[in-house]
Amino acid sequence: MDTMRSTSKSPIPSPGAATEPVLNEMGPVLASSTAKAVLALIRNPLDAVPPSIFSEPIVFVRSAGEVKVYIADPALIHEALVKNADVLGKGEQVRRTLGPALGEGLLTADGAHWKWQRQSVASAFRPATLSELQPPMIAAAEQTRDRWLAKGQGQIDVGHEMMRTTFDIIVETMMSGGHGIDVERVESSITDYLRPTGWTFALGMLGAPGWFPYPGQGKAMAAVAFLRSSLGAVIAERRRNPDGRNDLVSMLLSSADPETGRTMSDDEMIDNLMTFITAGHETTALGLAWTFDLLARNPECEEKVLAEIDAVTGGLPLEPAHVAKLVYTRQVFSEAMRLYPPAPIIARTALADFALGGFRIPAGTELFVPIFAVHHHENIWSDPHVFDPERFAPDAGKDRHRYAYMPFGAGPRVCIGNAFAVTEAVIILAVLLQKLRLVATDLAPPVPVMKVTLRPKVSMMMRLSAR
Ligand code: HEM
Repeated sequence: MDTMRSTSKSPIPSPGAATEPVLNEMGPVLASSTAKAVLALIRNPLDAVPPSIFSEPIVFVRSAGEVKVYIADPALIHEALVKNADVLGKGEQVRRTLGPALGEGLLTADGAHWKWQRQSVASAFRPATLSELQPPMIAAAEQTRDRWLAKGQGQIDVGHEMMRTTFDIIVETMMSGGHGIDVERVESSITDYLRPTGWTFALGMLGAPGWFPYPGQGKAMAAVAFLRSSLGAVIAERRRNPDGRNDLVSMLLSSADPETGRTMSDDEMIDNLMTFITAGHETTALGLAWTFDLLARNPECEEKVLAEIDAVTGGLPLEPAHVAKLVYTRQVFSEAMRLYPPAPIIARTALADFALGGFRIPAGTELFVPIFAVHHHENIWSDPHVFDPERFAPDAGKDRHRYAYMPFGAGPRVCIGNAFAVTEAVIILAVLLQKLRLVATDLAPPVPVMKVTLRPKVSMMMRLSAR
């Protein structure tokens, strides 16, 4: 395997520091300058991904004395995330970065603690429940549409607008409205928390102790304190006034560990509400923001979406029955998430030695599935950088490997909100684009930066245009 080959097509603006190949018992290993890797992590963790992973199936990189494994081949992803899921944990890096906010909730926990939490909330994501959630999704999208129509030809920050819309939806659907949560402050708190995450990755890589200070830490911790206390208030209110609602809060309140019978403490409930509030709105909002930008830059696709929405709705308000018929709109969202996967890298740590593609992976090794690279891989996709929703036309992906496209991850830790997110995105696109178009204000496409999720480097400003 020629692990040194890198690709000039790499979309990562400034590549990480891959240099000499070294052989060890795992396979050919690239040595990477620690200083360069640390700088890349702080600036944009996507830059720390070895450029050769955009054209190779698997790449081993030694950095700060440790070998890290990057996997892009769909068959190897299946072998790691699905077949060997039991020997892979979320690991120290994930807990260090997300633990202060999400504790040991569903996204960050491992083993039995993860399993009972997943089972406790599974029924909130069944198809029958999901169809009941469509009317509040439509109502939230209509509120955004009316706000935009009132603005006339004004400019909007589309990322911010989408965060607001998906936040309204998650709070309404999972927490029955959340009883007066301060939306604006929650959104700015999440940004404050995520902004310095490059530092936590870098300090983790250097083996610095968890208490080691970093720029932006004070603001990030104040943000966490605010978010957690807001959710604590929601739980306290629900304990005082159980209102018979069957939402996520009531599911968490009534869940019991099948082994011990114990129920969730307030802290554990807050861990999970934090997880669902953050994982459940930011990702979808970013996927939508990238979609609006791509449509504005691809007028033929935009025309086709608008025509589909008009034909399906007949110009009448969107109804739940329309959603499944918006096939091309869904293709557009899928293709936007291929080019800009909202969660661009999945990280794991080996809990025991295991074999992967004929290599021996020792316990303690960190593994990364750079979804961003899988989705741009030159062996998987033709013209990987071209926006082409036809890739997701019914039957078009018949010969594609199941794990060639994985915006929601793979295996038992696959996103629990997968169907929720796609339904919500199609609804928001249809309600907004039925009345308005968005026009890009910057000639150059936005630069993606990873702050756990894939955000535009600067705010994505777009101009509203009535249809
Ligand atoms: C476009 C939107 C979304 C994307 C791209 C996305 C992506 C992902 C990915 C890649 C994972 C797996 C992480 C890993 O393996 O380490 C994940 C897990 C998760 N997602 Fe999503 N997500 C989205 C929307 C949602 C929504 C709407 C919810 C909730 C309503 C949600 C809740 C979760 C939770 C709780 C987990 C952890 C599941 C577990 O470990 O058992 N996500 N998501």
